[in-house]
Amino acid sequence: MCGIIGYTGKKNAVDVIFKGLKKLEYRGYDSAGIAVVIGKELQVRRSVGKLCNLESMLKKNPIIANIGIGHTRWATHGKPSEKNAHPHTDPTKTVVVVHNGIIENYSELKAELQKDGQKFESETDTEVIAHLIKKHYKNDLLNAVQKTLDRVRGSYALGIMCKNEPDKIICARQDVPLIIGVGNGENFIASDIPALLPYTREMIFLENGDIAEITSEKVIIKNAENNMINREIKNIQWDTEQAEKNGYKHFMLKEIFEQPHIIENTFRGRIYPDEGRICIEEVDFKEEYVRSISDIYIVACGTSYHSGLVSKFLFESFAKIPTEVDIASEFRYRDIILNEKTLVVVISQSGETADTLAALRLAKSKGCQTLAICNVVGSSMNREAMHVIYTHCGPEIGVASTKAFTGQITVLYILALDWAYKRGTVALGELKKYLKELWEVPLKINGFLQNVKSICDLAKIFAYKKNFLYLGRHVNYPVALEGALKIKEISYIHAEGYAAGEMKHGPIALIDESMPIIAIAVKSKVYEKMISNIEEAKARGGTIIAVASKSDKQIRNKSDYVIYVPETDEFVSPLVTVIPLQLLAYYISVLLGCDVDQPRNLAKSVTVE
Ligand code: AGP
Repeated sequence: MCGIIGYTGKKNAVDVIFKGLKKLEYRGYDSAGIAVVIGKELQVRRSVGKLCNLESMLKKNPIIANIGIGHTRWATHGKPSEKNAHPHTDPTKTVVVVHNGIIENYSELKAELQKDGQKFESETDTEVIAHLIKKHYKNDLLNAVQKTLDRVRGSYALGIMCKNEPDKIICARQDVPLIIGVGNGENFIASDIPALLPYTREMIFLENGDIAEITSEKVIIKNAENNMINREIKNIQWDTEQAEKNGYKHFMLKEIFEQPHIIENTFRGRIYPDEGRICIEEVDFKEEYVRSISDIYIVACGTSYHSGLVSKFLFESFAKIPTEVDIASEFRYRDIILNEKTLVVVISQSGETADTLAALRLAKSKGCQTLAICNVVGSSMNREAMHVIYTHCGPEIGVASTKAFTGQITVLYILALDWAYKRGTVALGELKKYLKELWEVPLKINGFLQNVKSICDLAKIFAYKKNFLYLGRHVNYPVALEGALKIKEISYIHAEGYAAGEMKHGPIALIDESMPIIAIAVKSKVYEKMISNIEEAKARGGTIIAVASKSDKQIRNKSDYVIYVPETDEFVSPLVTVIPLQLLAYYISVLLGCDVDQPRNLAKSVTVE
């Protein structure tokens, strides 16, 4: 996620801003920049890569000012480069902008401005905002920003300055956090608390639709209806570490709770359910090519492999494309039969996993088209694959992958539907229905996350068990695998994920009173089969924890414990059923005193074989 910091006061703004950007480094970034107003001129410094590159630029060519804005960029539109780094100005260098979020309609706005003869420097959505504000500027920056935001659709946290109004910063917030830090004779803006803590604990958390005008002495806030409002000034007592976790005890828990937001961030600007429209900026798979795909090979490791297994059902059921999924460390040593009509999809949060990278290179050597589903812009896989689609999860700090899994499934669900529509295997009406199902998921997960006490209670009951069995069918079989992986890697308890239909072929022998069985049995075409498996396991003394649909009235009589999850269409249910399994693993790990964010023997990215 991008980071924003702004300052106005008596200190050297460049110094305050640079230190603030350092505090936001944990959010991940690939470029950075600072803009200040000196006299009646804007000065901008930007660099790709780490902050040390910006620092050496500033040392070589120092600037002193009392007002400025800074930015660390986590690329979504446009590769990491100096030109795409923020801040962005309009061509006359009158207005300068830093932005966190996604402007959904930036392409049409950009085309409109280009038609007026506007020249663009970058590939970003953000630069459009600078051009629009200049277009609307009539010696009233606040008003020009308001007029601009009336045209903009999407999510944003913005910091804006204008050389003609050198004493003020305008900021605005829609769906992306933005905080005002209140000082004594100085004021700040920031994306997150850590950047402000060295200077002030008095903070205002802007709400959606808010726009504010900040000088060193004054903060004026207006709401979406242009009425002046008072937002509460909160006193924040967190230390920096607590602030980086946004108050959560571990990054993993923070990232579990971020999932509604990252799913929304990943589909934002890409799906329009009411129109039945899909638009994935990074790729432009024409209908002719999509119809020519003979088969898909999905290759990944660990959690990414599990999201690939989910997508197999999506590509086959929606797009009717034969789809194989393989573990990268196996794929790369097979005498695999691939042809130029095979599409090889690699899935990787880090984009650096050695086996997956090797599989990608093998696929390319066989003349296949290749697509990478990555979370990290500028990673090896996204440089080497022919096509790339990003999950917009922001950096995943916890070694145990959570939001990357749901972000990957979100991308693959959209892609499978896009290709199904292009291949004529899903009609417009169905497409709208399935897109609406995805659109509603973030709200449903948010609702579920409001009360997770029951899962915490289950963790207390089962934390000292020595084995777990996770069962699922169809799209929730991979979720069973994922649930088992989570508890293994952060609690060090042995667990197996199994296709429930396989029970009779061996694993049922494992079941006795000491074996808890987590059965994913949400309403679906395999629900009755799951109930039979639950009854088989119960009959042999197993303790059943069922993950069930909220409306299910009968499953309580079949199970010892039930975790109810929101109703969804079965194809999108993995986004919901995985959440309680992530939380169960998390709470058990905490109870056992394990190192949740840095489990023993594990690395976040396995860059060696
Ligand atoms: C999942 O919790 C693990 N951290 C691990 O299995 C991970 O998913 C795997 O190493 C793949 O990583 P990648 O997505 O970065 O390629």
